Amino acid sequence: MNNVFDYASACLHRTDIDEKLQLTANAWQLYQQGELQFESLSAVQGIEHVRFPTQPELLAPRYMARRKLGTPEGVQAFYHALAHIEFIAIYLAWDILYRFRGLPEKFYQDWLRVAHEEALHFNLIREHLRKLGIDYGDLPAHQGLWEHAQDTAHDLLARLAIIPRCMEARGLDVTPGMIEKIRSIKDVAGVKILQRILEDEQQHVLFGSEWFYQQCQKQQRVPEETFKMLILKYFKNNKPKGPFNTQMRLQAGFSLNELAWLEEQ
Ligand SMILES: [Fe+2]
Ligand SMILES: [Fe+2]
Repeated sequence: MNNVFDYASACLHRTDIDEKLQLTANAWQLYQQGELQFESLSAVQGIEHVRFPTQPELLAPRYMARRKLGTPEGVQAFYHALAHIEFIAIYLAWDILYRFRGLPEKFYQDWLRVAHEEALHFNLIREHLRKLGIDYGDLPAHQGLWEHAQDTAHDLLARLAIIPRCMEARGLDVTPGMIEKIRSIKDVAGVKILQRILEDEQQHVLFGSEWFYQQCQKQQRVPEETFKMLILKYFKNNKPKGPFNTQMRLQAGFSLNELAWLEEQ
């Protein structure tokens, strides 16, 4: 296998976790060696064909274990939730690459990098979880994260606005606070992992911003108006809530006007 879309298809349509990580690593290595093909030769299957592992069980948020860091179980639940976010992030990166064809090769290279980094994040957290005595899949996980991908499967601008520019951007807002909490329980290894993730995520959001602006230009739409319209449409008039990490969001390609609009309540 040497075509990026075959790797994407395998990662989205097969359920085995270790196989998915191995395929992602293989695709990245082939790309580094200059041997990965980016020609779109295969058909795209609808998003309803995407498959997830049988474990973890996916449930509504009210069924999640409490994530207070004061107890060992709370710490396990905290990292399990984080592992799940990174696991779904692998799917999200492969899915944007797989579903939207006919774009410049750089688009596919950027999201392949994201898939590769999300797999690294997942591996780091899973190793940490194992040291804490559980594995990914041992607790139930939040079923909601994939819904935004399903909602935006037909519209690249909406996908870019909602996934990298809202969901991943939220990570920039909340991760610094999480790092301080983890530091306060003297989890030095955990602090390092979260710092690494935060650094990478800024780049993921920047990719989202760059391709959002590129697509707006191509479709002759005003980026800031389009961003606002899409957020209101897909969040059903509930804007993302702050506080926002202004400095990191600016570095990740948000404009001052977009941030000012987000800050308005
Ligand atoms: Fe990540
Ligand atoms: Fe990410």
